[in-house]
Amino acid sequence: MKNNNDFVVTPYEVQGKVDYNKLMERFGTEPIDQALLERIRKHTGDLHFMLRRGTFFTHRDMNFILDEWEKGNKYYLYTGRGPSEDIHLGHLVPWIFTKWLQDKFKVKFIFQLTDDEKFLIEEKLSKEETYSFAIENACDVIALGFDHKNTEIIIDTDNAQTFYNIALPVAKKITYSTVKASFGFDNSINIGSVFYTSIQAVPAVLESVRQGKNIPCLIPHAIDQDPHFRLARDVLPRLGYYKPASIQCSFLPALGGPEGKMSASDPTQTVYVTDDPKTVEMKIKKHAFSGGQVSVAEHRKKGGDPDIDVSFQWLKILFEPDDKKIKTIEEDYRNGDMLTGELKAILIEKINTFLESHRSKREKARDQLDNYLVKD
Ligand code: TRP
Repeated sequence: MKNNNDFVVTPYEVQGKVDYNKLMERFGTEPIDQALLERIRKHTGDLHFMLRRGTFFTHRDMNFILDEWEKGNKYYLYTGRGPSEDIHLGHLVPWIFTKWLQDKFKVKFIFQLTDDEKFLIEEKLSKEETYSFAIENACDVIALGFDHKNTEIIIDTDNAQTFYNIALPVAKKITYSTVKASFGFDNSINIGSVFYTSIQAVPAVLESVRQGKNIPCLIPHAIDQDPHFRLARDVLPRLGYYKPASIQCSFLPALGGPEGKMSASDPTQTVYVTDDPKTVEMKIKKHAFSGGQVSVAEHRKKGGDPDIDVSFQWLKILFEPDDKKIKTIEEDYRNGDMLTGELKAILIEKINTFLESHRSKREKARDQLDNYLVKD
């Protein structure tokens, strides 16, 4: 591994077993502590289970967002996705959380689909392909139920004029050596990928540009994207904008175990939103790393380890919002009353129920695209 590190996280590479406390230190983000949780709860009434359980565990400038909010200054939400052929369950984590924030604060939300980024980074993909993935992924976002009156989906190449004009002064203030160090690029990187980070900064100031005054921006995202926004936070104030704030989550573990991030390109390590019930069942049964014992007798005696069990983690992070239920499952599994097969059956049922409804919503979303998509 590069730099002899035990793990590597950049927006373009995740390797090894991520130590999230160490990562927070490396990146220089703040932990979400009890005081901040209580401050959020003051405005939302309750806390989303992803906050209660520490899936969203770190942030930058959340207190600024809440200070402004308490003064009556609304923030807006921004997140995004480098379009891929199929969305997997890991992608949904920050989106579902963003939906909760939008429902609670009733604020505007901008979703960026970076077809340009995907085209530049993935050697084999054509512009036509990354654009059509963007349309497909937009359907998944809409399917989650974002209010169209308060939500914009922006495909970068449909907004080239607006984006290029805002990105240009940003790009002028970022050096090649900074980009290389921040994203782990070497000299063989294409020059488009070097420029790209300035495009990801644009939605963080888009509302300020439109309204002609500074509007706070909060970006919920998985922690691997932090390097982009670290650069944005460095540059944007020098151009007269606010620093964007962020609230960041850990990754949904890959099926094979807690090492690294689930990759969209390895079908044995993830469940796609398009997987049919049989495929889901097969993937979980065959590939989901188990914290159980080798035999039933031994499992009954020693119990399983939910902390390393991927099926349990998926329930905890995404599929079982009820704290009482997740606690019962955890205890039963730990003391050997619940077997791995039973745990997996719970997860399979949850995923398939969710996906059945998601798929029908995403088909309906096709007719609603025009209500969400923004173009130059
Ligand atoms: N670079 C991100 C990806 O590859 C896409 C993205 C654009 C994004 N803007 C964002 C992700 C804001 C999180 C927040 O998926």
